[in-house]
Amino acid sequence: MEIKNRRLILSALASATGAAALAACGGDAAPAAKAEPTKAAAPAAAAPTTAPAAAATKAPEPTKAAAPAAAPAAKAAGKLEIFSWWTNPGEVEGLDAMFKVLAKDAPDVKVTNAAIAGGAGAGGDMKAVLATRMNAGNPPDSFQVHLGKELTDGYAKADKMEDLTFLFESEGWTKTFPKGLLDAAASGGKQYSVPVNIHRSNVMWFNKKIMADNGITAAPATFDEWFAMAEKLKAKGIPALAMGASSAGPDAHLFENVLAGVVGADGYSGLWNGKTPWSDAKVTSALETFKKMIGYANKDYLQIVGWDAGEYIISGKAATYIMGDWMNGYYKAKKFADLGYAPPPGTKGTFVALSDSFGLPKKAPNRDASIAWLKVCGSVAGQDAFNPVKGSIPARTDAGKTSDYDEYQKSAMKDWTTDKIVPSLVHGFAGKQSWVTDWQNAVNSFASKLDVKATQDELVKIAKDALG
Ligand code: GAL
Repeated sequence: MEIKNRRLILSALASATGAAALAACGGDAAPAAKAEPTKAAAPAAAAPTTAPAAAATKAPEPTKAAAPAAAPAAKAAGKLEIFSWWTNPGEVEGLDAMFKVLAKDAPDVKVTNAAIAGGAGAGGDMKAVLATRMNAGNPPDSFQVHLGKELTDGYAKADKMEDLTFLFESEGWTKTFPKGLLDAAASGGKQYSVPVNIHRSNVMWFNKKIMADNGITAAPATFDEWFAMAEKLKAKGIPALAMGASSAGPDAHLFENVLAGVVGADGYSGLWNGKTPWSDAKVTSALETFKKMIGYANKDYLQIVGWDAGEYIISGKAATYIMGDWMNGYYKAKKFADLGYAPPPGTKGTFVALSDSFGLPKKAPNRDASIAWLKVCGSVAGQDAFNPVKGSIPARTDAGKTSDYDEYQKSAMKDWTTDKIVPSLVHGFAGKQSWVTDWQNAVNSFASKLDVKATQDELVKIAKDALG
């Protein structure tokens, strides 16, 4: 029952992107006859949510009978360009692990890893480079894109992606991905991108030794507890908050989680669909709380990037860092043993979610190789190779059973099934890219000016622009 509620939150979100019920069945997948055969393998596809009426819309069946099985991967050969911003510890290893699975499945495919450093934030140029290439009709074979509005509003609705419904059906993904992710990968009833993971945005990482050495026996669960801890550490000259705001992004990530903690899960979700006004007193309170937290940050926070702030937890230059669970991959790659984790203040029982995915751009130079890659992305083998090192949990409900997953990941898998799931804006789930960019810039400006009123007014305006 609860699970249904959680799924509904994600579904509601996705349906706002136009992905209503999974009614249509991708009859226009077009050029590839080879795509069809496998359709037969996915009998009950959209069954549970698709009402009888929807079945009637499934008219274009004829192709189903057409062909032999599993052609694409077998034929795949040649160069395959994979575009992402995964250049940091944990990210690199994760991508490599999936490339290894691909090498087994499609040995004649030669991957070009086109990862661009700098990340997805305003300071990184990956998304800009990608947009330029897509607009110029020069796409990579496949690229990293967040499920939700980043995918649907940025690429699917703009008709830049191939409909992958055939692959979701042939690979049985309509049954192995949670409905919330299927909805977030869909636009106009068609599936557009293959989720490789679920990342949790709201994690507070900390240095267990610093905590123990300073008599902090439990991770702070409320803001009051967090500030009490911060005062204690301040007395010893230790910043409680690791922060890196030399470029927009990581500070916006932090504020997103302060918002979730102060406004609460339902109110927070409402911020992205217009139900909670940005002028709300709770948003003011979240900005004030954030400002107070920044008072306990490392003094050089305006000079360093997020990854450096994360490193401060290892070096002991700060005590806690609020960041997504790619930091789990980072700390594992760095073999950091004193790592502790807890939900940031006020967010126990809330799972701020995002999902990385890969899709197939129209005009991809090597379509067959790209499909072989996408099959790896969506497979149990691919996801169980990637996620243990990436720090995230698998998108597939039937993966994640191996001993490669750590304690944090086991707890995240459990929380995914019990918490309220709400979407991240900063990581593309809740809003379109222009909103993300404007929002990140406004929060980044707040990080230096600390002007609550001006920032809230700006956030109101930005939301109005984005939601219309
Ligand atoms: C997120 C992405 C994660 C991780 C992170 C930091 O947007 O979804 O996979 O890579 O950025 O680069």
